[in-house]
Amino acid sequence: MQSLSTFHTFGFNASCNKIITVSSQDELVGWLPKLKHQQFLFIGEGSNTVFVENFDGLVVVNKLKGINKFEDETFYHLNVASGENWHDLVTYCLAQGMYGMENLALIPGTVGAAPIQNIGAYGIEVNAFIHSVEFIDLDSGFAGYFNNKECEFAYRDSVFKKARIGKRLITSVNFAIPKDYAPVVSYSPLDKIESPTPQKIFDEVIRIRQQKLPDPNTIGNAGSFFKNPKIPLSHFINLQSDYEDIPGYSVDEKTVKVPAAWLIDKLGFKGYRYGDIGCHESQPLVFVNYGKGHGEELLVLAKTIKLKIIEKFSIALENEVQVVGQYGRINL
Ligand code: EPU
Repeated sequence: MQSLSTFHTFGFNASCNKIITVSSQDELVGWLPKLKHQQFLFIGEGSNTVFVENFDGLVVVNKLKGINKFEDETFYHLNVASGENWHDLVTYCLAQGMYGMENLALIPGTVGAAPIQNIGAYGIEVNAFIHSVEFIDLDSGFAGYFNNKECEFAYRDSVFKKARIGKRLITSVNFAIPKDYAPVVSYSPLDKIESPTPQKIFDEVIRIRQQKLPDPNTIGNAGSFFKNPKIPLSHFINLQSDYEDIPGYSVDEKTVKVPAAWLIDKLGFKGYRYGDIGCHESQPLVFVNYGKGHGEELLVLAKTIKLKIIEKFSIALENEVQVVGQYGRINL
């Protein structure tokens, strides 16, 4: 058994049967016959995965590296290996004058994880910059490719989270970054930036994240634990009669997105602590490990909050984080 405590940002001392690191596609392909016959997980930096129990399988850690760049009249094109660090890529793009992804600065994790959950922050989702995603199909052993449309991107969702989950191992992501840059500063407090430039947005996003979100290098966490739920407009209007201050963002004419942080805050869970696990004091949607927390405590806290939100608001939260137990992914 090998400890996973340094392989996921929650830091629980769960273990797995074996940890393998792959640094090239050939190495990954070489492991495929073994992976076909046993339970395994392909992870990046473990910033959106939490091992709540000992995992009875192999963990394959993605260290595929490399960036290739070319341009045409309208786009910068980048082919980025999936094991590259996300924030390093954002920093590289800014330094090279390829603008637009600054709003996504400081999001923990690898480039390969970005399309899976279609990472997003401060008014931008990564799908706006993704041309295509390359992967190796576990069953056939062949390299595959999905263009942007085939990735079925949606809010914190993609084809990689649906059918054949975990069977397509993302090896690289192709980005197409438009040359005609326009800053996206609609999301508060970016709207306060005077004469926004890519550098100012980058700096401000980093400042806000550092101020509001706990740093996984200092205190174990995996970012937002739940997705912001989408509810029918009729349900939202009913809730407004009981909770005048409930925030909501229109998704389309029939659907409203409600901040899960507000629902959790309203229940009084902000700063709440159960054992060594808690809801962060400035962003209760982020669950944190105060040091000695374990998976069982996290499950109790998450399930309690989920249940109370159903009781009080008739809203079912879905987890945003990938929760892994002995036999693989767990749905709370
Ligand atoms: N709120 C409260 N109490 C709080 C904090 C927030 O009521 O203590 C309410 C407020 O109404 C606030 C709203 O929640 O306006 C939204 O809060 P925030 O702007 O912090 O964003 P979020 O919806 O909670 C999402 C992403 C974050 C991303 C931020 C910024 C999801 C699940 N989370 O959080 O992404 O950084 O927007 O764009 O969509 C992540 O995915 O891990 C992540 C951190």
